[in-house]
Parts: sequence; structure tokens; C-alpha cells
Amino acid sequence: MYAEKVLSGMRPTGRLHLGHYHGVLANWIKLQHEYPCLFFVADWHALTTAYDEPGTIAQNTWDMVIDWLAAGVDPSQATLFIQSRIPEHAELHLLLSMMTPLGWLERVPTYKDQQEKLTQKDLATYGFLGYPLLQAADILIYRANRVPVGEDQVPHIEFTREIARRFNHLYGREPGFEDKARESIKKLGSKRGKLYEELRTRFQEKGEAEALEQAHVLLSDTQNLSHGDHERLFGYLEGGGKMILVEPDAMLTEASRMPGLDGQKMSKSYGNTIALREDAESIRKKIRTMQTDPQRVRRTDPGDPEKCPVWQFHQIYSNAEVKSWVQQGCRSAGIGCIECKQPVIDGVLAEQEPMRERARMYEEDPQLVRNIIADGCEKARKLAQETMRDVREAIGLDYA
Ligand code: TRP
Ligand code: SF4
Repeated sequence: MYAEKVLSGMRPTGRLHLGHYHGVLANWIKLQHEYPCLFFVADWHALTTAYDEPGTIAQNTWDMVIDWLAAGVDPSQATLFIQSRIPEHAELHLLLSMMTPLGWLERVPTYKDQQEKLTQKDLATYGFLGYPLLQAADILIYRANRVPVGEDQVPHIEFTREIARRFNHLYGREPGFEDKARESIKKLGSKRGKLYEELRTRFQEKGEAEALEQAHVLLSDTQNLSHGDHERLFGYLEGGGKMILVEPDAMLTEASRMPGLDGQKMSKSYGNTIALREDAESIRKKIRTMQTDPQRVRRTDPGDPEKCPVWQFHQIYSNAEVKSWVQQGCRSAGIGCIECKQPVIDGVLAEQEPMRERARMYEEDPQLVRNIIADGCEKARKLAQETMRDVREAIGLDYA
């Protein structure tokens, strides 16, 4: 068996923050040791909403790739590339668009949600409607088995599965599949052959899952079939033929545990972030001025860590000893808030130290980053080209 492949993409939105690190990136860094991984910059996807400000894409892309590398995404383990450098994604997107029912796209929940959210943009565009289909092409072109994404993206993976199924159903038949299947049935012998056809009819016409299961047992129990006949008869039961595109599974990424400076979810739009390679002085300042328990007005007022965003940071960055020091000190007014914040400052700075080190190397020599991406694009493109050969052949576009 081949190893399962992992693929994921991120739109280039600029500098990443601790929320990205404690959610998506930490997961990528773990997965890169467990599977062959492909991670890419979805710059065309960024263009679906930023088509009127394309100038931001280049800077955002390189900043984001440096953040990935700084965080510990390892180019010797994972393949890193940029979507728009693999034109085969666009070709697959086009070919899939021919067989994608409009209603499927209109029904994807992000379509209406995003249009309602981003009211200042006209998103009644062809490209924006096709966003999930472009994402399907991104995934299917690498025959990826697993796609780590956040919860909001799960409908896109489900949509991708439906597209793969539809494609295989439409184009996965070998020439003369039906005739060949009938020949294979004869090899079952008359009694078994009859039972097979009966079970197939019951499954196809009445959707009886039990009939399908019985047919599978029947085929598995039949000894004298060739491998080809076997596969064909399995495929014929469900009406399909060969599997050209692979249906992927979503791998749900745990939500980031990282709160923002104000205790809400860390997000650029709330202005409550700490960037991944932020200047140390700026980090100190942000944490020192962080809101604390609003009831604790004077140093002598006891406080309640449960009502304080700083305590949420302690839960990520502090050990048991420090945490009990906070609990006791805060509730008894034994420590001041500035004092309480110091271990958090130290923790965030220590976490970023190796990142800053790695980032410095790439900032000083941008060619290093360009080379990593060029290598990744070359590897990705080979895989994409292989799939496209099969896809063109299946559709009948390989003619002379
Ligand atoms: N739509 C994804 C997001 O906004 C980004 C993306 C594009 C993606 N293509 C992908 C994610 C393919 C996983 C696989 O987060
Ligand atoms: Fe928050 Fe610490 Fe101040 Fe208590 S002592 S209010 S936990 S910052």
C-alpha cells in the first residue's frame, strides 16, 4: 500500500500570529513527521476576494512562508509550494467546472456567509462562486487522502468528495466496461452469476445496503476469478468503474487554545494579536498593558483570575507552580498585576526565540526562501502532471 498523503493550503493574509501557531501550524509541524505532506500558499484563493487589491499578495505570500519556516515547518520533510505556480490546478478546475452543477456551489454555506460578511466587496463573481471548486482541484490533483482544516472548511471537503465521486462516475469507465462486466459475470458460473445480478439490481434500484454487502461476500468467496474480473465486478455493483480521483477525508484541526490580548479569540480583525516574530519590546508592551480583572482597581484589591485574560495566557505558558502562585497571589492581593504578567512575557519571548533565530536567516537571505519554494513547486508539479495525464485520458482529451 502507498502512504496516505496530507495536503493543506492557507490564503496569504500576511504575518501570522500566535493564534495560527497554536492551531494550524502546530498541527502541520506534527503531521510532517507522520505523513508525506504538501502545504501551499493559496494565492488564487486570496484573489477571489482581493481581486481589487492584488498588490498585497506578493508581500503576504513571502511573509507567510517565512512564518511557516520560522514556526518549524521543515522543508526537508514537507513539500512547500505556491498554488499559482502549478498551472495544472487551473486546468483541473476548468475541466471540473464542466460537470459541476451550479446548485452544488450555491449551496456551499461559506458562499452566502462570506457575501453577507464582506459587504464592502462585490462577491457576486464567477470566481468567488467557484472558490470551493478551485479548492477541490487543489486537493484532487494530488490525490490527497487527508486534509487538515478548521471546522469552517469541512463543507468544502465534503463538496470535494462529491466532485470526485461524480468525476469517477462519469469518466471512470474503461471502454466497453459494461460488456466486460457481463463477460466477468459469466465466469461466476450460472448460479452465482444469477445471484450476483439479483443482488446488484436490488442495490441499484432499491438502494438495499444489505444486498450490496451480500454481493461483496459472494465475490470474496469466489476463488477462481482473476484480479481484473474481481475489481470490475466490485465496480459494476455500484455502477462505477475505475477510481481516477481519490475522495479525501477532512482531518479536523483542533481550534487554537490561544486567546487574544483582550480574552476574545485572537484575530487580526479584533486587533488583539501578538505576531509570530514580533519585536520583543512590542511584545513586552502589549502584555504589560493587557487588561486584567476589571474588579481589581487598586493593588490592594484582591482579584479573580477567572475574570482575567492574563490567566488564560498562564494556562498556556506557565507550569503548575507558577499557576498556583498566580491563583493565591491574585486572590489574596499578594502579587501585583505587573508582577503576575512577567512569567507570561518570559514564556512568549522564550517560545519565539528559536522562531526569531530561524526567521533571521531567511530574512537575511531571501534567496533561501525562493529556493525552498522552487524545489517544492517542482515536486508538486510532477505529481499534478501525473494526475492530469490520467484526467485528460479519462475525458478523452488525449487525442492526436
Ligand atoms: N479555503 C482554505 C481556507 O480558507 C484554503 C485552501 C485553499 C485550502 N485550498 C485548499 C485548504 C485546499 C485545504 C486544502 O482556509
Ligand atoms: Fe490577572 Fe494576574 Fe492581575 Fe490577577 S494578578 S488580575 S490574574 S494579572
